[in-house]
Amino acid sequence: MKVGILTGGGDAPGIDAVIRAVVRKGIQNYGYEIVGIKDGWHGLLDHDLLPLDLSSVSGILPRGGSILGTSRTNPFKHEKGPEKIRENVRKAGIGALVVIGGDDTLSVASEMDEYGIKCVGVPKTIDNDITGTDYTFGFNTAVTIATDALDKLHTTAETHQRVMILEVMGRNTGWIAIEAGIAGGADIILIPEKPFKIKEICKHIKHRQKRGRNFSLVVVAEGAKPEGGAEVVYSEAVDEFGHIRLGGIGYYVGREIEKCMNIETRVVVLGHLQRGGSPTAFDRLLATRFGIAAIDLVHEKKFNRMVALQGNKITSVPLKDVVGKRKTVNLELYEIARVFFG
Ligand code: F6P
Repeated sequence: MKVGILTGGGDAPGIDAVIRAVVRKGIQNYGYEIVGIKDGWHGLLDHDLLPLDLSSVSGILPRGGSILGTSRTNPFKHEKGPEKIRENVRKAGIGALVVIGGDDTLSVASEMDEYGIKCVGVPKTIDNDITGTDYTFGFNTAVTIATDALDKLHTTAETHQRVMILEVMGRNTGWIAIEAGIAGGADIILIPEKPFKIKEICKHIKHRQKRGRNFSLVVVAEGAKPEGGAEVVYSEAVDEFGHIRLGGIGYYVGREIEKCMNIETRVVVLGHLQRGGSPTAFDRLLATRFGIAAIDLVHEKKFNRMVALQGNKITSVPLKDVVGKRKTVNLELYEIARVFFG
């Protein structure tokens, strides 16, 4: 059988480790032919394919990014997009697809069933917001990078007696903010799930000052918003899945803190540094386990499922049960973080 593999949406460290695992086990154990699809669903609209053999995946385990490229192409936004994909899949002789993506890419995979395309999903996003799996790959690397940034900001914040604000990714959920915030000893963590009040933030900073701590570290997820307010948008342009580009909430928070109290603030937007570079050992292992599980599902003809990590076990869940939903920050974790606010 010929198996196609594609990556859609924002990249996440560990994609190449998934591709390597699918190719290695697919060829060695199952005798499959594996074909890479360039730039997500776009490659199937345009018939842009790249045959993958054992040598194509040699040395890619520690790499960030994706050897296949990615895009935020939504076939349902293109005239006769799904039909074109069906035709190109037929022409290429592809019997099954391994789809590595976040909610948008996996939603398309789920809908492609109606067009007779057999998909297995692999949950990928640094945001960790996909339901049905405890972790997505890429998240651990992003948390490690954000924690490292906090460690660095700590010394300069303390030396200058400033409030340092670190803006991290997390469009709809605050997983990176909460986990890096706890690990990096943040004094305040702002997440989309909990709209904030500037007054409360200043109260925490003043409380620290009373304890003789004349500096503070604030972590804010890009999608966090003030109570009754809206997210800070970098650009109104929307992608094919309807998402606007967020960014800049850190500057809002910094300015508002300076208005309500006499302290200097500085803002760091970590941005795509969280998505680039080499995956952590945790993500390499998780991505490898996901890739192996995905090609096993193909072999067992268990389609329309997403591989998942539950506890320490790799399992799978129906795609239709997870797409269009969102795994928000566990409130127990938020309560742990709150113990250290102020
Ligand atoms: O991968 C998800 C995400 O990290 C979001 O948190 C963020 O809003 C988005 O990607 C930004 O991606 P890009 O700059 O590639 O559009």
